Amino acid sequence: MSSLINKHVLLGVSGGIAAYKSAELIRRLKDLGADVRVVMTSAAQEFITPLTLQALSGNPVYTELLDPEAEAGMGHIELARWADIFFIAPCTADLIARLALGQGNDLLTTIALACQAPLALAPAMNQAMWSHAATQDNLALLINRGAKVFGPDSGSQACGDTGFGRMSEPAVLATQLSECFSSGLLSGLNVVITAGPTREAIDPVRYISNHSSGKMGYALAQACAEAGARTRLISGPTQLSCPANVERIDVTSAQEMLDAALACKADIFIGAAAVADYRPETIAEQKIKKQGADTGTTTLTLVQNPDIIATIASDINKPFVVGFAAETENVVSYARSKLIKKRLDLVIANDVSRQDIGFNSDDNAVTLISATGEEYLEPRSKYQLALELVRRIAIAYR
Ligand code: PMT
Repeated sequence: MSSLINKHVLLGVSGGIAAYKSAELIRRLKDLGADVRVVMTSAAQEFITPLTLQALSGNPVYTELLDPEAEAGMGHIELARWADIFFIAPCTADLIARLALGQGNDLLTTIALACQAPLALAPAMNQAMWSHAATQDNLALLINRGAKVFGPDSGSQACGDTGFGRMSEPAVLATQLSECFSSGLLSGLNVVITAGPTREAIDPVRYISNHSSGKMGYALAQACAEAGARTRLISGPTQLSCPANVERIDVTSAQEMLDAALACKADIFIGAAAVADYRPETIAEQKIKKQGADTGTTTLTLVQNPDIIATIASDINKPFVVGFAAETENVVSYARSKLIKKRLDLVIANDVSRQDIGFNSDDNAVTLISATGEEYLEPRSKYQLALELVRRIAIAYR
């Protein structure tokens, strides 16, 4: 079933007669659950107005590179980072050439250079322009860089010619775009992911916890489900909704998280949860009152919690185990010691001392650590990072 639920689709519209179809395309993308933002070239505005596309998308339309108002809102760099996919439809021969050259001479091409999300194109042009060697060479270059090309179709054209160059129909494009998110990399596999914080009760009112929001683990669960895995998400308390096609198991304490993890069969186990290392030795039955003469201090005896991921990795039939490492210094060396000590297959290390990534942020940057080496993945949205991590985990697993 095609779905773009919760996907950020940045739609680029360039100046061909097929631009009128972008109105219907927006409607189809939104029908599949996408959040659509539009960026238009100046030529595109000759064929359809930004106001029309703003009304249909429900978001401001971006047209100028140096628009102070737009920059005050979501600037073009933020827009590039917001996107889960950059889809240009229609994409003219001129724009294909400018993208191939890496030009940044207007808002759309500037965003294309800044955007790390996948690029998809729906070419639309006269049949002779389509078959011209320059167009085909430019397109081959973009495909070689990873761009996906949808269509064009063959048929009668506005100029009276007949042949290839017609932009594919919006309904077909929307379905093809949704299929971009189902890679099949983990098809047939059981993936179990822990996410979020744990809460260790002190008394019926108070608990020990941490700043984990669950965003990283939920993004991984979404990416694993999209890659075709049967995905179970063992989640501590969060404010997040369960991603589509993911089975969520809600837990509160580290012990509950361990029990749930041991009850799930996994081919791949990913520990993204921020598990409390300690819990109060005893849970008071009633709310703890201040001691008699208030001395200003009180003592809480803590005992160690079970190490969930180390327990999973110690099983004789252990799954492929991926751990995270939340460090504030010596990130790589501390993370590598966890790889060895906990007998993990991969460790994803993140510097949680930074405000712009890690706990509760929408973005993250990590160093992927294996027995054979390490690789830094620069800052991006946790969902984009999750897609990249799934690709690497799938390769390492296979
Ligand atoms: O949830 P977000 O707000 O998106 O933030 C993401 C994150 C920062 C929480 C995430 O990226 C992250 O780093 N998660 C791991 C946090 C953590 O507990 O790291 P650690 O270095 O203390 O633990 C190392 C590994 O052992 C982790 O895989 C952890 O899940 C696991 N662990 C730790 C303790 C324990 N008792 N049991 C465990 O399984």
